[in-house]
Amino acid sequence: MWLYLVALLALYFLRRWYRERQTVGNLPDKHVFITGCDSGFGYLLAKQLDGRGLRVLAACLTEQGGAERLREATSGRLQTAILDVTRSDNIAAATAWVKGQVGDRGLWGLVNNAGIGVPTAPNEWLSKADFVKVLDVNLIGLIEVTLSLLPLVRRARGRVVNVASVMGRLTVFGGGYCPTKYGVEAFSDSLRRELRDFGVKVSIIEPGGFRTQILDLQLVRKSLEQVWSCASANVKEAYGQQYFESYFEKFKELLSTISPNLHLVTDAMEHALTAQHPRTRYSCGWDAKLLYLPVSYLPTSWADYLLTRSMPKPAQGI
Ligand SMILES: NC(=O)c1ccc[n+]([C@@H]2O[C@H](COP(=O)([O-])OP(=O)(O)OC[C@H]3O[C@@H](n4cnc5c(N)ncnc54)[C@H](OP(=O)(O)O)[C@@H]3O)[C@@H](O)[C@H]2O)c1
Repeated sequence: MWLYLVALLALYFLRRWYRERQTVGNLPDKHVFITGCDSGFGYLLAKQLDGRGLRVLAACLTEQGGAERLREATSGRLQTAILDVTRSDNIAAATAWVKGQVGDRGLWGLVNNAGIGVPTAPNEWLSKADFVKVLDVNLIGLIEVTLSLLPLVRRARGRVVNVASVMGRLTVFGGGYCPTKYGVEAFSDSLRRELRDFGVKVSIIEPGGFRTQILDLQLVRKSLEQVWSCASANVKEAYGQQYFESYFEKFKELLSTISPNLHLVTDAMEHALTAQHPRTRYSCGWDAKLLYLPVSYLPTSWADYLLTRSMPKPAQGI
């Protein structure tokens, strides 16, 4: 009995391994548009795909320090554009530019990667504007870019790769970030089902913690200080200064364990774009695979206990 089970499991993994090794042809004819290429995963992916010979259309938020730096590090094939995903006029201009670049072939790949992480803090410390700021980039921007470029992706029967996070499967902190990533998961799920009949494949990338600008300790500290200084007297009294300091220390502790190996994420993105049979979801990093995802399947009360047991206690908490 056990032997049959082991053999079945081995067959399943063998078949999966074989299917996942098959790649699509004509890579030098395929255009891939990536948002947020100034730094982090976007920057690295643009370089990686350029190295593989694909036609990369890299969208950066800034020219200096963003697009310019990327062009210097890549081949003459890679093209750049400036795109702020919160601006509809920018998205319309970028779409017209992509249309001109890809012609009748259409757009093979759209990678929605641009994102911001702060302000992140206990929910009660934040204002509506703090939530809207993150939603505008991470979710609404992603949706508008997708809607605008989808006709070109459909023409190529291509791929949409949406960068969510393992924080779209398990909420670990307050603020707009986790809700946006749950939103990206939901949007991608419906998109995948709708586009199947057009031959378009949609993949979701779920990284754990990786050392990029979004998790820069100084940036997080500055944002947290700003949020705390704007919090109402009532909130400050309820939580207390000690809580603020301990909350930051917890964040610091968490950030000290994150991975410097960004390739785990960009390799998953590359697979989603170049494999004949891309996965629906790619979880990247040991923390995502061994900690956050397993905890997300636990009964809620167990997950709540695990995620709060070492958190600081507010001054007026019970
Ligand atoms: N690092 C992690 O641990 C982690 C984990 C899970 C998911 N992610 C996700 O991975 C994606 C990439 O983040 P990253 O870690 O590589 O961080 P990153 O280095 O900060 O990259 C984010 C990129 O998005 C750009 N961007 C910010 N606001 C934008 C806007 N309004 N319009 C267009 N581009 C904008 C940034 O430009 P500037 O550099 O000019 O600001 C930057 O190029 C994000 O969606 C993030 O949520 C990251």
